[in-house]
Amino acid sequence: EKGGYEHFMLKEIFEQPGVMEDVMRGRVRLESGSLHLGGINDNLEQLRKARRIIICACGTSWHAGLIGEYLIEEFARIPVEVDYASEFRYRNPVITPEDVVIVISQSGETADTLAALREAKEKGALVMGICNVVGSTIARETHCGMYTHAGPEIGVASTKAFTAQVIVLYMVALALSQGRTLSDSEIALYLRELSEVPSKVSEILKSSEEIHAIAGSYRNARNFLYLGRGYNFPVALEGALKLKEISYIHAEGYPAAEMKHGPIALIDEDMPVIFIATRDSTYTKILSNIEEVRSRKGRVIAIASEGDEDIRSLADHVIYIPAASAPVTPLLTVIPLQLLAYHIATLRGCNVDRPRNLAKSVTVE
Ligand code: M6R
Repeated sequence: EKGGYEHFMLKEIFEQPGVMEDVMRGRVRLESGSLHLGGINDNLEQLRKARRIIICACGTSWHAGLIGEYLIEEFARIPVEVDYASEFRYRNPVITPEDVVIVISQSGETADTLAALREAKEKGALVMGICNVVGSTIARETHCGMYTHAGPEIGVASTKAFTAQVIVLYMVALALSQGRTLSDSEIALYLRELSEVPSKVSEILKSSEEIHAIAGSYRNARNFLYLGRGYNFPVALEGALKLKEISYIHAEGYPAAEMKHGPIALIDEDMPVIFIATRDSTYTKILSNIEEVRSRKGRVIAIASEGDEDIRSLADHVIYIPAASAPVTPLLTVIPLQLLAYHIATLRGCNVDRPRNLAKSVTVE
C-alpha cells in the first residue's frame, strides 16, 4: 500500500507530479489556452464581482491560502484577506453579501473551518470550498467549490494536498482575471507555465538523496529559521511547520525582511537558516539577508534557481530548483523543504506518518 516507499509521507511527496497532472486534467486546456472549472462555473460572475475575498483555513491549508492571496491579488486585483478559521469564527467578523469566502480543507472536516463556513453563510457571503475528501462536510455545505483530486493523503503531514490546493488557487485566480484584468494571451501564458510544473517537480525529486545528506548534518539542530519573500514567504512558514510536526525540532518561518526586526538576535553557529532565494524580483534583497546571517556565523541552506553559481560562495548548502516564473515557484520550492523535513525526521528515528500529539483531521475545536 506504500507502493514500495518506506512511509506514506515519502510516497505522497513522490506522487506530486502525477497528482498535479490530475488536478489540472480537464480544467486546463492548453490548446485553447482556456480554463474549465466545472465546480464554480455557475458562480463565476458573482465571484468576479466580489468586493473582497476572505480565505479561511487552518495549518497547511492556511499556508496555501496565503499563496492564494498573492495569486488572486496579482492576477485578479481583488483584495484578499487570509484568516485562521479559528480566529475568524470567534471575532464576529465583518462580512457582507458582496464578500466571497473561500474555505480550504484537505479533510473537509476541520471543526474550526466548518464553523467559519457556517458563520460566513449566515452573514450572507457566497462560500466556495477547496477540499480534497469528496463528499466531506465542508464540501457539502459550501455553495460551490473545487476538489483538489490529490487522492487519499494518509501521512499526517500534508504534502500533496498542499500543492494541489495551490494549483486550484492558481486556476481560480486566473478564472477571476478572465475578461477583466488579464488578456487571453496572458492567461494562456500563465497556464503554460503551470503545465510545466509537474516535470520540474520530477526533476527536484531527484535531489532526494542529496537532501538526505544535507539532513545528516543538521539532524541534531535544536532550532531552525526559514526565510522567504513574496510568494515564498508562505513556503517558509510551510517548511517550518513540516519540520516541527514530524521531527519535533523547533522551527520558525518568517518573511526574510522581518529578520532584522527581531529573529536576527537568535542567529549564531547553532541556528541553521533556510533561505528560499530563487531568482525573482527580490533576489538581491535576499542575498543581503544571507550576508547578514553569515556575518553572525549562522549556517545557511539556500534553495536557489538552477544556474545560480554565485550563491554557492554564500551558502553552506545549495539545493537547486529549475527556473520558473514567480507565481509558480511555491509549487517547486516547497518540495525540497518537504524532503528535508522528512529526512531529518527519519534520521532522528521519528514516526513521520503518525507524529505524536497530532491527528490527521482536527474535528475538535
Ligand atoms: O484537513 P485540513 O486541511 O482542514 O487540515 C488543516 C490542518 O489541520 C492541517 O493542515 C495540519 O496543519 C497538517 N498536519 C499540516 O501538515
